[in-house]
Amino acid sequence: MLTNLQTRDVETLIHPYTNLHAIRSTGPLVLERGKGIWVYDTEGKAYIEGMAGLWCTALGYGNEELVETAREQMLKMPFTHLFGGKSHDPAIELAEKLKEMAPMQVSKVFFGCSGSDANDTQIKLIWYYNNAIGRPLKKKIIARLKGYHGVTIASASLTGLPNNHIDFDLPLPGMLHVSCPHHYRFGLPGETEEEYATRLAAELEEMILREGPDTVAAFIAEPVGGAGGVTVPPATYYEKIQAVLTKYDVLLIADEVICGFGRLGTPFGSQAMNMKPDTMTLAKAITSAYFPVSAVLIPEKMYAAMIDESKKIGVFAHGYTYSGHPVGAAIGVKTLEIYERDKIFEKAAAKIPAFWKRLDVLRDHPLVGEVRGKGLVAGLELVADKATKRAFDVKAAVGAKATMMLQEEGLIVRNLGDTIAVCPPLVITEEEIEDLFDRMARGLDRTEALVREHALRG
Ligand SMILES: Cc1ncc(COP(=O)(O)O)c(C=O)c1O
Repeated sequence: MLTNLQTRDVETLIHPYTNLHAIRSTGPLVLERGKGIWVYDTEGKAYIEGMAGLWCTALGYGNEELVETAREQMLKMPFTHLFGGKSHDPAIELAEKLKEMAPMQVSKVFFGCSGSDANDTQIKLIWYYNNAIGRPLKKKIIARLKGYHGVTIASASLTGLPNNHIDFDLPLPGMLHVSCPHHYRFGLPGETEEEYATRLAAELEEMILREGPDTVAAFIAEPVGGAGGVTVPPATYYEKIQAVLTKYDVLLIADEVICGFGRLGTPFGSQAMNMKPDTMTLAKAITSAYFPVSAVLIPEKMYAAMIDESKKIGVFAHGYTYSGHPVGAAIGVKTLEIYERDKIFEKAAAKIPAFWKRLDVLRDHPLVGEVRGKGLVAGLELVADKATKRAFDVKAAVGAKATMMLQEEGLIVRNLGDTIAVCPPLVITEEEIEDLFDRMARGLDRTEALVREHALRG
């Protein structure tokens, strides 16, 4: 029986990433407020937000400094923009801070409102750049199966998940995919991580040669894959991939939308994974999700080409109404200030052993085939048979059932198919980590009981 709010919801809202048929009978979980790592539903029940929302509320809920910053900026200047040569202090300051922090040479910063639009911008800038420097054919972008880069037409084309393409008439031509670098699922029997990485680099090189190196512009990768199932590339992967990219003059875009800002135990995921990107996409934790802000970090050679194109065409005709929104920018500046002042990244890194100590125990759980991840992000892949890695029948929806059990235990996580993702706010305490995994263990035990009761192993 749906509550009044739930009924109003299903009669009015389209929910992203939801089975629009099923939700009509189950209704949504309606959350009302949050504090620290906790969120509360309309009935007052408390949950640990084990996903930091959507991998984004790094500083947790109810951060008064961020709220006050938003309030002050709204009073002072709620909106002004960067079009036609206008500017404002918060956008300048946020760009300066990002340039300072970035682990690569950055010339300029372009702001957007979402990870998806930032990746669209990446593609447009790379096309613009290659046109400017006289390489009009060098336009194809290579992404990876199970990679996640967003849902706009171009970024969904980069995303390597079938559901983002089926019946949306995607991917666009010129958006290609190589294999997902996930050893547990796709490594060959007896193949070491290094050998697997060598094979993946050879696959990339073959694709570039097959397509023609003068047609391939860029390769995009999340340092550690998130929404595609929390996949950690095998040892030596990026070194080998980057050697191929350099050989054929193909740019590397690091999609740091999840990994950026301390998630993997380093300020940026690229540092943890030994990636040397040419450009970077940032979003989510740039404001700890208190305002929708994304950013593209642009190197000098691309900026120089953009200046030439602007001179030729008369204008750089790209940008969103809310590019560099002053409230978002002010919150971004304050968020980065808090990260630095309160040593949030260092403190998060210090909590990684406690997080993994509990995850390591779950490796022995009868449902768990693999526990993978890095830093404060992990995925637990639930399997029908641990020894053979046999997956559950998709129709059994074991991942979704586990998520519901965990929700009943007061833990919000997300199932990516049958992989349960965990990505708590960086400010989680060690005590709260224990609480989170106590709930996780109870929920998985109940899921195991359900699997047995309904003979879901087939
Ligand atoms: C790595 C990555 N890139 C891009 C996106 C898309 O961001 P948004 O949902 O803000 O458009 C996401 C979202 O989860 C992401 O994880």
